[in-house]
Parts: sequence; structure tokens; C-alpha cells
Amino acid sequence: RFPYRGMMLDVARTWIDAAGVKRYIDLLSYHGINKLHLHLSDDEGWRIEIRSHPELTEIGGFRGGDSPVRPVYGKWDEKYGGYYTQDEMRGLIRYAAARNIEIIPEIDLPGHSLAAIGCYPQLACDGRGGWGKHFSTPLCIGRDSTIAFCKNVLTELFDLFPSQYVHIGGDEVERTPWETCPDCQRRIRAEKLEGAGELQAWFTRKTEQFLAAHGKTLLGWDEITEDGLTPQSAVMWWRSWMPSTLTAALQNGHRVIESPSEFLYLNGELDRNTLSKVYGWEPLPESLRAWQEGLLGIQANMWTEDVPTADAAGERLFPRLLAVAETAW
Ligand code: ACM
Ligand code: ZN
Repeated sequence: RFPYRGMMLDVARTWIDAAGVKRYIDLLSYHGINKLHLHLSDDEGWRIEIRSHPELTEIGGFRGGDSPVRPVYGKWDEKYGGYYTQDEMRGLIRYAAARNIEIIPEIDLPGHSLAAIGCYPQLACDGRGGWGKHFSTPLCIGRDSTIAFCKNVLTELFDLFPSQYVHIGGDEVERTPWETCPDCQRRIRAEKLEGAGELQAWFTRKTEQFLAAHGKTLLGWDEITEDGLTPQSAVMWWRSWMPSTLTAALQNGHRVIESPSEFLYLNGELDRNTLSKVYGWEPLPESLRAWQEGLLGIQANMWTEDVPTADAAGERLFPRLLAVAETAW
């Protein structure tokens, strides 16, 4: 039914090593899921080697103990973490491709970035980072040095991952630090933006252009549609409480992957999004049929803030993932 039949695995909150990911690739392949979206960075850890910035994994891959990575979720007395070397990731990409699965990388920008800020405090407006009003404090995108950092990271992803799509996150960004940061305010004036709200949109458009120049297509959580985005970018709709965002993304010509938290987040207990609820969900109701060409497919998400091991993730994914797979087919 859909060319994109996906699952996202959050390996940033809970570290799942290459052998664990291979096990998931086997299971996904068996059930006809053909995209594995890896959430490779977040506040709690950075999971992919970036050769121009080795600290990202050597330091940012671990929290707890004496690590400068300050986790948002949970308490970590012991040092905890891990990361994939680029060679290991190449092996995973090959292993997945041989089973008809494409790995899509996500580096979450400019929010959910405390692991990177722990390594390089100058990436934060206040040189520290922490918790804001609603979300963790974001990267300071007023500074050209932050933009250069992002480009360095993305360039290594382009070289590593053959996928057309590169996921840049974009969700849950705390914009309040940008309101008082001199660098962010300078950027807002120079680019004639309305305020901190539009600064993220500016960043997304710049990143979109950078990806396009390298033959890649930007994919992001649906917040990236706020304040203007060209139709070239693809949108992952997750905020099920904002159905108008989905409709608008399709109407504006975006390619869309539906991943609504209300139905396709499978990290909760089995009585949250129940099997029958997941199975009964219709990705293409009558009201969306007019734009069905833009709908690439659907994706189940496994966030791991409170799912401590790969096995625990499996206990929640199955059997509900089979319902997602069948709907996607
Ligand atoms: C998300 O659940 N923050 C995409
Ligand atoms: Zn700033």
C-alpha cells in the first residue's frame, strides 16, 4: 500500500548495540517493514561517530558518572552509553539493505541537543545548556560556529548513509534562550525575522538548502512546517492532537509520513495504544484522499526514555508492530 513502511528506534535514550540493531533488522524484514529510522542523538546521548568531532561520541556517547552530559530523563549514577563507529554503521547499512531495509539517520537539531552541548558548551546560547520552560535548551543558531558544526556533522552523515532522506529532528525546541541571546538577536535582525519563533524556520530552510546541495532531502518532525518551509522537504507528522498540521503539510505539497503519537507510538504500555486501536487506525481517511499521492507511508516509533533494554522494547513493540506492518501493506 505504501512505499514507506517504517519503524523508529530511539537508541539515544537506551543504547542498543549493533548486534541488537541487527536483531531488529531481522524482525522488521520478516514483517515487511522496509525503513529503519535511527534516532541517533538526543539530550541523553550521541550515538554515531563523527570523525571531525570525536568528542561527540567519546564524551557525548555516555552519561552518568563524571560525564558532562546531563540527562533529562532518569538518574544515572553509573556511566552508561555507547556508540556506533562509522565502520559498524556501514556494516549495519549493508546488513539492512540485504534484507530490503533502508536505514534513515536522525540527528535531532536544534533542540534535544544536550549531549552535543555537554561536549561543546559554546553550542548553547548561555554556554551551559539545561532545562528551559518546556524543553531542553537548544543550540545557539545565532552563531556561525554552530551552523558550521551542524554542516560538519551532516556532511559525514551524507557520506555514510545512502538514504535519500536525512532526518534533522526539529521537534520540541525551547526557543526562549534565543530571545535574550545577543548572537541569536543579531541573526534575527540580519535576516529580518519576526522573532525567535522564526529563527528555527530560518535554520530549517538553511539546512534544507545545504542538504539539497548534496543531493539529499530533508525530513523532520512536523514542527518544521511552522513559519515556512519549501515543499521539497518531507514531514513526519507525530502530533496527533494537531491534525490540521498533517492536512496543511499535504496541501502544501510536502511528502508526509504519518507517525501519530496517539496510534503509532508503541513505547507505552500495551493498554495505551492497544493492539485493536493500532490495527483499527486508518492512515488515509476520506478527508485526506485528495492528497494521497503525498502520503509516503507510516511509521511506528519506539522511544526509549522508560524502556531500558532492547528486549523491553521488543515486549512493547510486539505484537502491535504487526498491525502497523499490515496497515502499511
Ligand atoms: C517526538 O515525539 N518528540 C517527535
Ligand atoms: Zn543564541
